Amino acid sequence: MPHLIVVDRDGAEHQVEADEGLTVMEVIRDAGFDDLLALCGGCCSCATCHVHVDPAFAEKLPEMSEDENDLLDSSEHRDSRSRLSCQLRFGPALDGMKVTIAEED
Ligand code: FES
Repeated sequence: MPHLIVVDRDGAEHQVEADEGLTVMEVIRDAGFDDLLALCGGCCSCATCHVHVDPAFAEKLPEMSEDENDLLDSSEHRDSRSRLSCQLRFGPALDGMKVTIAEED
């Protein structure tokens, strides 16, 4: 089964089944993680779906839009691995990717 590895804010790793076509945010939210608020529901306007992505998958991610870049700039916890998980659609290329839920801003 396609899956993501999700690291929660306590540092615990969880293997989560992922359906193709959902966004990474939807996969994490549907798995019941309270850490990921995703307040705007995926409209790219809140940045509460911030995750740090395993660099091994960096090449497989879609390019970052200007809106996503601007929103991430508002986070104190942005680093080179930061993405908004609602902007990443899950598919076979991302199977097994590890994402770490970012610290709360
Ligand atoms: S859920 Fe709001 S920006 Fe991703």
